[in-house]
Amino acid sequence: MHIDKFKVEEWFNEYEPKAKYNLADICIDSMSIKELLEIGGNEEGRSFVLKELYNKKLGYGDIQGSQRLKEAILSMYNSQTLENITVTHGAIGANELVYKALVEKGDEVISILPAYQQHYSIPESLGANVKKLLLKPENNWLPDINELKSLISPKTKLISMTNPNNPTGSVITDDLMKEIISVSNGAYILVDEVYRGIVSDEKYNTTSIADLYEKGISTSSLSKAFSLAGLRVGWVVTSKNVINNINHHREYNTISVSILDDYFASIAIENKEKIFERNIIKREKGLEILKDWLKTESHISCVIPNGATSAFIHYDLEMSSYDLCKKLLKDTGILFLPGETLEMDKFLRMGYCNNPEKLKITLNLFSDWMKNNS
Ligand SMILES: Cc1ncc(COP(=O)(O)O)c(C=O)c1O
Repeated sequence: MHIDKFKVEEWFNEYEPKAKYNLADICIDSMSIKELLEIGGNEEGRSFVLKELYNKKLGYGDIQGSQRLKEAILSMYNSQTLENITVTHGAIGANELVYKALVEKGDEVISILPAYQQHYSIPESLGANVKKLLLKPENNWLPDINELKSLISPKTKLISMTNPNNPTGSVITDDLMKEIISVSNGAYILVDEVYRGIVSDEKYNTTSIADLYEKGISTSSLSKAFSLAGLRVGWVVTSKNVINNINHHREYNTISVSILDDYFASIAIENKEKIFERNIIKREKGLEILKDWLKTESHISCVIPNGATSAFIHYDLEMSSYDLCKKLLKDTGILFLPGETLEMDKFLRMGYCNNPEKLKITLNLFSDWMKNNS
């Protein structure tokens, strides 16, 4: 089966080990086990883990995820039951299973870009006709309803998007999502929600698509909003019929997630409020630094992100994004993600939710470099 090269992941594989100042990474300051247990309110730390884990048998565990984990995940949804969920290897596993379960040769899929490449390359590899709706900065990186309407046909099986969006940080509010649902003509709507939950402004704190629409499919994980990408736990929440279909495919590539991941994931999600609070503070601190820098930087323009953990910045230098990123890395050790890996040249994706001091230093270094290269 042919599938296109995954440009973002290839970029990371090749260039991340060479980075001194890594702004390509968009995770929020990953948590240690110690920090997770402290947030989980466990006073005894190490001895507690030993007591709980020391004699745990390393079998497959609960094949479809422990009851404890599934109940924790459901606490992030309004109107779902244990029949509406399946546990996967990260969001990457969740997304793949959704496409494999629902998309067949000849189906039409509408994918809203820029997006994680899974959302167009997997349905293309399955023989679907993928129509791409390109978000634009002049529309604040939000989908234009008329444009979406013009792409929908009786053959449209599924519409996919990431909300909040990676890389732009735009947020489709509940009102706009309801408009999308109203024009969807009964198609499934898959929303990759890995960044949901870490904004303080209620307007941008969105309801899951699974709670808004009976054919809505929510995929998510612990990698981004929870700062726990090392726990390879993700999930799909949707109608019982679709979950049954996904589980049919899941038997072939998952069996179970690691019982250690299941254990720590349960602790994390049971303490989601505290983890989200930690991450909202880190996000807002980084965003202030980004905004201050943008005010002083004449080569860069950017729609200020309302959610997620990345900004998609536009530059006016006469270089392709691949060339710029490679030269910048060689000259300074700064790593961005080239917009071309997300099908958009002249843009760079940058994370801003890690170490604030390092962020300031890196942005200033980048400004100096641009002065010398413009
Ligand atoms: C939008 C989006 N979906 C899915 C993934 C994969 O997430 P996970 O690490 O949970 O598999 C990523 C990772 O960068 C992402 O940005």
